[in-house]
Amino acid sequence: MNIKLFEFVKKGDNRGNLVAIEAGIDVPFKIRRVYYVWGSDSSVTRGLHAHRKLEQALVCVHGAVTIILDDGVERKEVRLDDPSRGLYIGRRTWREMKDFSGDAILMVLASEHYEEEEDYIHDYKKFLECAKKDWKE
Ligand code: TYD
Repeated sequence: MNIKLFEFVKKGDNRGNLVAIEAGIDVPFKIRRVYYVWGSDSSVTRGLHAHRKLEQALVCVHGAVTIILDDGVERKEVRLDDPSRGLYIGRRTWREMKDFSGDAILMVLASEHYEEEEDYIHDYKKFLECAKKDWKE
């Protein structure tokens, strides 16, 4: 599965902590977009899609959230609850975000600008078909 957990370098001192994320160094792509999600709770599931080419890194900068990852063959679950940890998600990976703590703030670094139409697959059946055909459409 094309995912990776990053441990960012914590530049902490007696004033508190700081993490810096540099494109191409701390995440393996150029960052073209940043968005963040908050105000979700444990009743909510977000995501429920895959991207054809987008790469992302997820950082839960406050609180906690569980990320489900699926490449059409296996399913994994990662709990993000530490702002110094990042989850890289490569292209062609189905993702779901669930079990948000009420105080969760999930920041997402993305390799592309927002493209609703071409890049998203919202239908899980279609995602499985694409994975089965090794993405030869
Ligand atoms: P949505 O894709 O439903 O979020 P999630 O993947 O967390 O389930 O996005 C919610 C709304 O925000 C929807 O109207 C599309 C919009 N949006 C943007 O305008 N730009 C973006 O970069 C993203 C990710 C979403």
